[in-house]
Amino acid sequence: VGGAPVRVEATGYTIEIAAGALARVGEMANRVAKAHRYAIITDSIVGPLYASQVAAQFTPEAVSTFAVPTGEEHKNRDSWASLTDQLSANGFTRDTTIIALGGGVVGDLAGFVAATFMRGVPFLQVPTTLLAMIDASIGGKTGVDTPAGKNLVGAFHPPRAVIADPDVLATLPLPHLRGGLAEAVKHGAIADETYFQTVGDAASRLLHPTPDHRDVHFLHTLIERSVRIKTDVVARDTHEHGVRKILNFGHTIGHAIELLSGFTMSHGDAVAAGMVLESAAAERAKITTAGTTARITDTLRTLGLPVTRPTGPSPDDILDIMRGDKKSRAGSIEYAVPERIGTMAGATNGFAVRIDDTIVRDVLADAVTDMRTSSASLA
Ligand SMILES: NC(=O)c1ccc[n+]([C@@H]2O[C@H](COP(=O)([O-])OP(=O)(O)OC[C@H]3O[C@@H](n4cnc5c(N)ncnc54)[C@H](O)[C@@H]3O)[C@@H](O)[C@H]2O)c1
Ligand SMILES: [Zn+2]
Repeated sequence: VGGAPVRVEATGYTIEIAAGALARVGEMANRVAKAHRYAIITDSIVGPLYASQVAAQFTPEAVSTFAVPTGEEHKNRDSWASLTDQLSANGFTRDTTIIALGGGVVGDLAGFVAATFMRGVPFLQVPTTLLAMIDASIGGKTGVDTPAGKNLVGAFHPPRAVIADPDVLATLPLPHLRGGLAEAVKHGAIADETYFQTVGDAASRLLHPTPDHRDVHFLHTLIERSVRIKTDVVARDTHEHGVRKILNFGHTIGHAIELLSGFTMSHGDAVAAGMVLESAAAERAKITTAGTTARITDTLRTLGLPVTRPTGPSPDDILDIMRGDKKSRAGSIEYAVPERIGTMAGATNGFAVRIDDTIVRDVLADAVTDMRTSSASLA
């Protein structure tokens, strides 16, 4: 049995975290986004598991389910086109509410459909992965990937509500649970040292291969703490002009290696490696306190997350992606990095920290040669 139901207020919408909340999606839709028709957008794995349970909460004529194939490679404009075409073909009008039922891929894609279909219709986020519950479903960012990079086409379109039911995590494969924990570690690293410690210490209680043996109560607490950290940051800066940038810790390098892997590396894994590499570069640049990278590395290791990058791409391949430009090979890129665990660097400069490309290139090169030694030596 999980913890007591929790409601967290974000700017303009409520996030409900409660065991069994999946049974109240219809009620929530009726309350905050009542419409003539409801479109459940899901993927080919989550759909068969949970879509009929959600659809059953609406009158049969009012609801349709559309499933895209699972996977980041389908978070693209083709899926967006196909979904908007299907909505039109099925007679959906402006009087529509979209229900995003799935992980962050579905949330971003369905959210972007909601942001653009008929110039924007309301939507609910019903996240079904840990990562989507604590991160992707909150903050109103929606969008799709393009060949040039991740999330390059999108819109800010906050949901009317987020309904997170920790019970659905019982079917989530362990690697995806780990991916969510990478973002939880990030939340601790950017804002709360005690939480950072707690997540690392809970590894054995969370990562049991059999869902029945996982500490659901702790998982509930973890979702709540991460949701509070993220909503707090987003409330202070909804459009990412300043403090919201701190949520990008690990993501500048992370997104690049995720893209270069052709999405064979998951988002959470890429962010884990990205945090280690960005922190290592910042430590070398004397921005981050010595020892910070070692603590991040140890915590991620305990959780079974990667602490180094894949060997395929070269440091310059990675830098080119981060820069979005192959021509200028000298300069510096902006990162969001901790000064120490729980406190971010660059507060006086909108939390954007420039690190010279030469330092980053060295760290990226060393990350491969040092693969079998402690990555603490990267700093
Ligand atoms: N909008 C934002 O602010 C934001 C923030 C962080 C991440 N993201 C995006 O989120 C995406 C990653 O999300 P993700 O990690 O949830 O990946 P995902 O959506 O691909 O889900 C991971 C896998 O788990 C399956 N799955 C989902 N729920 C399940 C369940 N309950 N039981 C069994 N299987 C289940 C999915 O079908 C998929 O195969 C990335 O595209 C990333 O860019 C967005
Ligand atoms: Zn992320």
